[in-house]
Amino acid sequence: MLNDSHSSTTTTFVSDSSLVQSDDDDDKSETPVVPSKCATHMMGRLGQDPEVSTPRNDLETGGEDTDKQQRRNFVSLMEGLDLEHGIRYISYESELQMPSIMKLIQKDLSEPYSVYTYRYFIHNWPKLCFLAIDGTEMVGAIVCKLDVHKQVNRRGYIAMLAVDEKYRRKKIGSNLVLQSIKAMAAEEADEIVLETEITNKSALRLYENLGFVRDKRLFRYYLNGVDALRLKLWLK
Ligand SMILES: CC(C)(COP(=O)(O)OP(=O)(O)OC[C@H]1O[C@@H](n2cnc3c(N)ncnc32)[C@H](O)[C@@H]1OP(=O)(O)O)[C@@H](O)C(=O)NCCC(=O)NCCS
Repeated sequence: MLNDSHSSTTTTFVSDSSLVQSDDDDDKSETPVVPSKCATHMMGRLGQDPEVSTPRNDLETGGEDTDKQQRRNFVSLMEGLDLEHGIRYISYESELQMPSIMKLIQKDLSEPYSVYTYRYFIHNWPKLCFLAIDGTEMVGAIVCKLDVHKQVNRRGYIAMLAVDEKYRRKKIGSNLVLQSIKAMAAEEADEIVLETEITNKSALRLYENLGFVRDKRLFRYYLNGVDALRLKLWLK
């Protein structure tokens, strides 16, 4: 258990209970924050044809060359390559990658997970785990799942996200989230949720930039006593 001084710099991505009941919307400790819809913002980023659907504001930087370059970057990114920083985005392939994934994510955990926690997510939803690679080095990872919530919604869940400290602020985290949103949208997800510590400003900004909204506050959600915010993105 960590004290408050750690809570702003460390992150518990998924509480133990999330393994069995991350979908529990009826938790009495939850407080609704701002439920609203935001699908339009995402559709531009996820659209098949960037010429048509990429939001103009994302691309408008003045010169035509810059504009074209950004469109090329966008298309490459959707194909799994970040031209600007030379980062490749790949899906999880094998258990051989597990130690690197764990090493990357554990650095920022306020409590350790066993290999079984990682395996629960990654073995069940291997196509929803994406890795950012620089050369041969793993520099970012995202781990997600997708199941049916309350027999109605297909709900995606982002369980873990981490980027190597040396590689932060290069949009690697955002790109990993975009890759996973795209994969979950392809699997007909209705919505995507995640929890993050209320003190984790970087993560909150990252997700809110991508269109997630604050849905609920979960009191003392983590073992270190810190509250969580549940963020949600509606895809339909
Ligand atoms: C949160 C984390 C994944 C962000 O990864 P990243 O690759 O640096 O993020 P990005 O470069 O995509 O940042 C996107 C936006 O998020 C916000 N952001 C990211 N890091 C930030 C920071 N340190 N301070 C303030 N805002 C930040 C900014 O708005 C940023 O956009 P900008 O650079 O144009 O201002 C990374 O800091 C990390 O691994 N943290 C520890 C683990 C963690 O907290 N995971 C999230 C658990 S839910």
